Amino acid sequence: MAQWNEAARTRKSAGAGHPIMSEQLSAAPAQPGGPGGSGVPAGPNGRRPEPGMRSPDWAENNFVRIVDVFKKFDETVAVKGVNLSVKRGELFALLGSSGCGKSTLLRMLAGLESVSSGHILIDGEDLAAMPPYRRPTNMMFQSYALFPHMSVESNVAFGLKQEGVRGAELKERVHATLELVQMARYAQRKPSQLSGGQQQRVALARSLVKRPKLLLLDEPMSALDKQIRQRTQIELVNILDKVGVTCIMVTHDQEEAMTMAGRIAVMSEGEIVQTGTPHEVYEYPNSRFTAEFIGSTNLFDGNVVEDEPDHIFVESKDLPSRLYVNHGITGPLGMPVTISVRPERIALTRKPPEGAYNWGHGTIANIAYMGGYTLYHVKLDSGKVVLANLSSLTAGELESPTWDDEVYVRWSASAGVVLTA
Ligand SMILES: Nc1ncnc2c1ncn2[C@@H]1O[C@H](COP(=O)(O)OP(=O)(O)OP(=O)(O)O)[C@@H](O)[C@H]1O
Ligand SMILES: [Mg+2]
Repeated sequence: MAQWNEAARTRKSAGAGHPIMSEQLSAAPAQPGGPGGSGVPAGPNGRRPEPGMRSPDWAENNFVRIVDVFKKFDETVAVKGVNLSVKRGELFALLGSSGCGKSTLLRMLAGLESVSSGHILIDGEDLAAMPPYRRPTNMMFQSYALFPHMSVESNVAFGLKQEGVRGAELKERVHATLELVQMARYAQRKPSQLSGGQQQRVALARSLVKRPKLLLLDEPMSALDKQIRQRTQIELVNILDKVGVTCIMVTHDQEEAMTMAGRIAVMSEGEIVQTGTPHEVYEYPNSRFTAEFIGSTNLFDGNVVEDEPDHIFVESKDLPSRLYVNHGITGPLGMPVTISVRPERIALTRKPPEGAYNWGHGTIANIAYMGGYTLYHVKLDSGKVVLANLSSLTAGELESPTWDDEVYVRWSASAGVVLTA
């Protein structure tokens, strides 16, 4: 069976943990007949791996494969035709608002819920064909579900004991995992004697100690308060990096997804609307939904009046000037589009801008001091309200505009993203 840290994580993500070299856990003996198993012509369930799995690159990139998966609960269709591949060693986030089907998808990956149609394959094998005790997944629940009457150590040992692990091996694995999550010195405490963040680490240890091929985390931070969340996010990424385990997590918190995950799938109403790195989904949203869901943005509705391979012009009733974006689109003239411009891309000036494009005129309607930056609400002459962020440094240096001041908003040709959906 695959050892945890055989897969060096190659995550490239904004703000996510840096790779950490550690062989801490590789000394633990491999488990014969453990969950999953691969490399031989037929898997433990007697099925042959998918043909594509014979190409190493393909197999690495399609370690988890979700193919046309639907889930229906009576009349509710919770998951609608999801297709997704997750790489080996990746930390992947499913992000979406409440009720969009994230947990349902995760529960199907865990084998806790059957698929209505479609397939889920892990390391080339169909989950549906695997009996529950062979499933190479482990899920950490939102509530942690620790046994209250058992010590930390016994909680972590529980699953291994059920698998028949005993003696020195049991002790070693429990200890190594508690060390990993920095909870070894609390081994004899009961869950009620721990803080929320400590309980979360015990729950994580309990999931990791079984060395799953795929770790599933449902809202792993939801029981923590905001302050300790941010620190815990980084800690969790570092632990998962050390272990190298493939991990799919669910969250409705976009900052959490962006901090932790190498790639994100944005879900809406049972469907995946966009998949990409945090940078890609933030800078290049493919739809209004993603643009508005990830961070805040200004949306200008208009029509294409000139479309060239390297730029387009758009007229919008929101602005006195045309919008100019330095990339083309495919579509007819006159086509309705929306231009998304992030608040941090918008500059405020008191003098009229020199260029003929990408500007508007209005008055400051509101100012929100956010600490690191100041958010200005500018009400344009058209009535449209535009949000502009100024870093506190810039806001402090300028003769900062104040309530009811007349200002111009402007932005560059590379600031806008054209949305056609
Ligand atoms: N067992 C069930 N029976 C019937 N409907 C269900 C069941 N489980 C989930 N649903 C429905 O499926 C949809 C998706 O639910 P799911 O729990 O996957 O959402 P979610 O994205 O995890 O939301 P949240 O962020 O609130 O946890 C919802 O409309 C929910 O009511
Ligand atoms: Mg949920």
